[in-house]
Amino acid sequence: MTTPVLQAKGLVKVFGRVVGLDSVDLTLHAGEVLAVIGDNGAGKSTLIKCLSGALVPDEGSILVDGAEVQFKRPQDARDAGIETVYQTLAVAPALDIASNLFLAREIRRKGPLGSILRMLDTGEMKRQAADHVKRLGISTLQNINQAVETLSGGQRQAVAVARAGAFGGKVVILDEPTAALGVRETGQVLKLVRDLRDQGLGVILISHNMPNVFEVADRIHIQRLGASAGVITPATHSMEDAVAIMTGARTLDSTAH
Ligand SMILES: Nc1ncnc2c1ncn2[C@@H]1O[C@H](COP(=O)(O)OP(=O)(O)OP(=O)(O)O)[C@@H](O)[C@H]1O
Ligand SMILES: [Mg+2]
Repeated sequence: MTTPVLQAKGLVKVFGRVVGLDSVDLTLHAGEVLAVIGDNGAGKSTLIKCLSGALVPDEGSILVDGAEVQFKRPQDARDAGIETVYQTLAVAPALDIASNLFLAREIRRKGPLGSILRMLDTGEMKRQAADHVKRLGISTLQNINQAVETLSGGQRQAVAVARAGAFGGKVVILDEPTAALGVRETGQVLKLVRDLRDQGLGVILISHNMPNVFEVADRIHIQRLGASAGVITPATHSMEDAVAIMTGARTLDSTAH
């Protein structure tokens, strides 16, 4: 067994009287897509917020490559190689694709022009952006100078995923990336998810869309009422099983094949 790239042990998060997470374990390996499914309020977003440094868990531990980490803010998780694409897209519509990819990580010109005058090395950013886009196979993005506001919803999502993939290094977490997308755009994002996995990244995909989940996931972590109800795979369980476990109609054991 290889060391998981990301692991959570016994995560607890309580909001007043609401138990958001009730001692949740999660394991993610490099080069796999782990889907996280569950009904509304099951704790999916709370779980990934803890893994991405947006929330600090009350109890439990998080390990990256087997070493325990303490994320106090999202930048801590990013520094550890964990990039998150939130449901509400963090892209700047008026900026071009290259600027969006390098948002908050702009490359400065070398020497005093960059260090003192804070001048940007736009040429270098465009070159690297074109490289990332090509490497990720986002073939529908033809012009790196195009403003993101002129892109389709799926292409915008692709830019956000590319941004995460370009800098993530180890793990990319996507919270409902295809919720608002059409069939073709959803296909593009799912292709990107597979590309990231094939490059050896670990991908966590939160989705309510069972066909999508069963299409791309290697394993499926099921959340129910703040707790983990088990982990299944598309090979051993059906969509019907997944929904039954999610809603409590069946337990993991009763669906074992
Ligand atoms: N900041 C908060 N304050 C109070 N309660 C919260 C907060 N965040 C989450 N909760 C509660 O924790 C529980 C889990 O919420 P969470 O957002 O993780 O669910 P989810 O699985 O992502 O649901 P959805 O599918 O609707 O996005 C819910 O009961 C929710 O009301
Ligand atoms: Mg949510």
